[in-house]
Amino acid sequence: MIVSETPKHVAVIMDGNGRWAQQRGLPRLAGHEAGAKAIERCVQACLDTGVEYLTLYAFSSENWKRPALEVNGLMLLLEKFLNQKRDEMVREGIRLHHIGRRKELPAVCQRKLEEVMAATASNTRLHLVLAINYSGRTEIIDAVKSISRDVAAGLLREDDITPEIFDARLDTAGIPDPDLLIRTSGEMRISNFLLWQLSYTEIHVTKKFWPEFEKADFLAALEDFQSRSRRFGGV
Ligand code: IPE
Ligand code: IPE
Ligand code: MG
Repeated sequence: MIVSETPKHVAVIMDGNGRWAQQRGLPRLAGHEAGAKAIERCVQACLDTGVEYLTLYAFSSENWKRPALEVNGLMLLLEKFLNQKRDEMVREGIRLHHIGRRKELPAVCQRKLEEVMAATASNTRLHLVLAINYSGRTEIIDAVKSISRDVAAGLLREDDITPEIFDARLDTAGIPDPDLLIRTSGEMRISNFLLWQLSYTEIHVTKKFWPEFEKADFLAALEDFQSRSRRFGGV
């Protein structure tokens, strides 16, 4: 059966900021700044279309390998984004979530994330999930460790471990799996994003770089999703 409805949860691998800047003879950070504007458009598109969950891959655990100048610039940009958007999120009914290892982020980013998450905790219109210092494999390993501890302590029996129990140990506990994954810049890979959660997610790849991603591109992705036949292994 064709889907035809709006996806409840859209996840995005926002890729191509660096190449967008390079094409214009600009530093990579200018691409990340332009990428922040694309986030605003994407959030607005979700509010307009009734998408309830938007997960954005903003910084992977592998991205620490980049030059310090770029990493520091990205962390500053995150802080600036949260400072600028805090009140608007509260007002518009947007609830902020974070997935990834928060403790390894600069202290000011941790504090800011926690402050905005607390300030928006009762909002329900749109759940904005930022993946920062996120690694799908690390998230799975952390869940396995947490389950192992409970088994060793006699709080959980091995036979009682189910997909639901496992799911509840992930950073995304309580968040439904993404219906649609968008990746910009034409790359056909997952890059360690939501490895468990993407099992049955529909994938839409566009050649556009993230800073060029407009509301019309988001709507085109939704239209593509609505033309899919999701079978979940059935017929
Ligand atoms: C995505 O753009 C943003 C982050 C990974 C932080 P890139 O910075 O990966 O841009 P490209 O892929 O080098 O063009
Ligand atoms: C994935 O993009 C991570 C984010 C968008 C934050 P990368 O640019 O890091 O991924 P690869 O290196 O092309 O796989
Ligand atoms: Mg990239």
